[in-house]
Amino acid sequence: MANIIVVGAQWGDEGKGKLIDILAQDADYIVRYQGGNNAGHTVVVSDEEIILHLIPSGILHRGKKCIIGNGVVLDPQALLEEIDTLRLKGIEVDSNLLISDQAHLIFPYHKILDRIKESKGSFRIGTTGRGIGPCYVDKIARCGIRLADLLDTDVFKEKLKFNINEKNKLFKRLYKTKGVSFNSIFKQYIDFRNQISKYVSDTPRILNSAISSGKSLLFEGAQGTLLDIDFGTYPYVTSSNATAGGACTGTGISPTRIDRIIGVVKAYTTRVGEGPFPTQLPKALMNKIRDRGREFGATTGRPRKCGWFDVIIVKHSVLVNGLDEIAVMKLDVLDDLRDIKVCIGYEYKGKFFKNFPANIELLNKCKPVYKTFKGWFKDTANIKEYKKLPSEAKDYLKGLSDLVGAEINIISVGSNRSQTIYK
Ligand code: GDP
Ligand code: IMO
Ligand code: MG
Repeated sequence: MANIIVVGAQWGDEGKGKLIDILAQDADYIVRYQGGNNAGHTVVVSDEEIILHLIPSGILHRGKKCIIGNGVVLDPQALLEEIDTLRLKGIEVDSNLLISDQAHLIFPYHKILDRIKESKGSFRIGTTGRGIGPCYVDKIARCGIRLADLLDTDVFKEKLKFNINEKNKLFKRLYKTKGVSFNSIFKQYIDFRNQISKYVSDTPRILNSAISSGKSLLFEGAQGTLLDIDFGTYPYVTSSNATAGGACTGTGISPTRIDRIIGVVKAYTTRVGEGPFPTQLPKALMNKIRDRGREFGATTGRPRKCGWFDVIIVKHSVLVNGLDEIAVMKLDVLDDLRDIKVCIGYEYKGKFFKNFPANIELLNKCKPVYKTFKGWFKDTANIKEYKKLPSEAKDYLKGLSDLVGAEINIISVGSNRSQTIYK
């Protein structure tokens, strides 16, 4: 039984939800390890689109245990809304969902802070506005409130009072805006507690004993490597470790227990929010790809910027995640292009860079150097076998695999489960 980590190898939205849904068939536990409801993971089942934000995508498979690990930041209101949405679709949640008592809670003041910071023009990250960053700030500052605290009324009251006191000073004095009410947040969160306490568990213990008894775990990464707080395009990143290491710290599972790590990429690149994006397409072509790929955010509905496949960033992902393989999604979106470009390096002031630079200013200014592949100009959405792919599509995939230095075993040509090719 294999324990598998699935990570986004670009800037998120690579199609992780679809891949998790497929791999979940062979897993016993599906585990989210970082991020929160900033994620939007789309799964299409019998033509119905379901978007998961907090609950692991494995919930759509009957009887699979779904875990929200300690590394996730949890907005209880968003969680309850998601549970309701799933229930209305007839999906069983209660007997399959467990949440770590060490997960940190998102509060209304985190969301307000997120929005205030975003309104300050020069520091805009283009966040999802879900309070993710400010919640992780409190976690690292050691004043955050965890689910275990919420379960103890006295501890919760004391910690909430301290935080609200501090945040209200910030709101009133620094940001010149009104503060939040302790009484109403306290009441609201006690009400949330009554609804979610049944899911709260000692998840590291549960997961480790599951491994000991031969069960297999599937770790569902959110966001992507280039949005990782350490390895991404800092500061235009999210506030957690989306990379493979995050799966261990975010769940309490040792790296020695991991058998396989799969990086998910699109056959091209997209990005939402601010920050460098070297291979961004010119407007007309961008609109074409955006329309074909339906590139609008699953969480915020924002249009995603589209660009050519960038070997430099994926090679960086292969390195920092230790990827042996990448799954290539949305190949069908490139079906009607005459030429397809792939960025194989960056050029700046006459110098050629073939590795990902940490200097964001350089990344902003450098020009991509492209290799051009011939398009296949054929519909791939109904192809089920690798050998039936047009030869140009196979050349393109082989080119990507060689250039990034990872195998390609899974290729996706549509959003349905059945539109998947196993090489
Ligand atoms: P995630 O955040 O990585 O799970 O990805 P999102 O769900 O945000 O975005 C991926 C989008 O692409 C979703 O709308 C999927 O239904 C869709 N999708 C996934 N794989 C394919 C594919 O191979 N072809 C096409 N056309 N769409 C796909
Ligand atoms: P999934 O899991 C794409 C981006 C935001 C912004 C930056 C910081 O669906 O791939 P945050 O709200 O996290 O503080 O925003 O990160 N971002 C994502 N982009 N896919 C995601 O998740 C994202 N989650 C956050 O757009 O640029
Ligand atoms: Mg998404």
